[in-house]
Amino acid sequence: MIDLRSDTVTKPSPDMMQAIMNAKVGDDVYAEDPDVNTLQCYVAELLGKDDAIYVPSGSMSNQLGVKVNTNPGDEVILEQDAHIFYFETAAPAIISNVQCRTIHSTYGQMPLDAIEQAIRPNVYYFPKTTLLCLENTHNRHGGTIISLDYIKQVRQLTQQHNIRMHLDGARLWNASIATGITVKEYANYFDTISVCLSKGLGAPVGSVLVGDKQSITKAKRWRKILGGGMRQAGILAAAGLYALTHNIERLVEDHNNAKFFANAISNISGVNVDMNTVQTNMVAFETPDYLPAATLVSKCKDAGVLFNSIAQNKIRIVFHLDVSSEDAVKASEVVRDAILNSK
Ligand SMILES: Cc1ncc(COP(=O)(O)O)c(C=O)c1O
Repeated sequence: MIDLRSDTVTKPSPDMMQAIMNAKVGDDVYAEDPDVNTLQCYVAELLGKDDAIYVPSGSMSNQLGVKVNTNPGDEVILEQDAHIFYFETAAPAIISNVQCRTIHSTYGQMPLDAIEQAIRPNVYYFPKTTLLCLENTHNRHGGTIISLDYIKQVRQLTQQHNIRMHLDGARLWNASIATGITVKEYANYFDTISVCLSKGLGAPVGSVLVGDKQSITKAKRWRKILGGGMRQAGILAAAGLYALTHNIERLVEDHNNAKFFANAISNISGVNVDMNTVQTNMVAFETPDYLPAATLVSKCKDAGVLFNSIAQNKIRIVFHLDVSSEDAVKASEVVRDAILNSK
């Protein structure tokens, strides 16, 4: 089966398993796990921040980011399809007791004037706007890259209003590889950044939140409150370290496979691919009028290719390290045949 549902479906390679076997391990609640400590230092350094904390998931990492940057009753500005808002089960309301203020966007970039209008004046009957979150690359917009130029402009605006910034950088590695801009340069404009090791990089589990010492100290307390304090977590951190040192540069292969696939299906009559969004490892496309997305998913599954529908007539395809260029060719043929045979 060629599994294109998400880049989270990867399995550890034999070399990664060996790295897991070699982990030294200790109790991380006592901060005694050597691999966890190494991983945290490595990621803090890579992103140019004081400190880092290893957590089980991207959702926990994001929610700790929201928690440490806000107080109960505050308002957080987010893009309307942001993972933090859309997919994290109302956690900002539950964990941080904050209100989300969402703004529409083009490919994940909210208009600056809309952000400015959303910032609350300092009046007692309004909530305080204390945090703005961006997502790079943007999942629900199809892996689109938030430009550095845009990020700088948003930062300038938030600085004027004393608003902190958190980045959901689950796939920041993809943005960096696609643009040549270092993750450190992207991170420079944010107070906290969450990065995932279990998406394109292929680790089975784990994310890291980075920021200043005070934020990460607070995050450590909240990780424990949320039940995310792990013990001999080095067996997981070792996989994360392996992923960071072996699987970043190869992301370009996933990006090339996505471009190939998008081009291959774009000329099928009735299929609509917005090529502007094919910037990293994802391809989103609309099915022809006569073919509901769920039907195409089911036909292709029978032919050995798995992917998800994200709307009634919309499909999302994700390339990752367990999908070869041959698989990308085969998948494009399966999709083409399924569409043409449904007419
Ligand atoms: C952009 C983005 N942020 C955060 C997450 C959450 O990661 P996790 O599934 O590890 O909680 C995901 C998951 O796919 C994601 O796509």
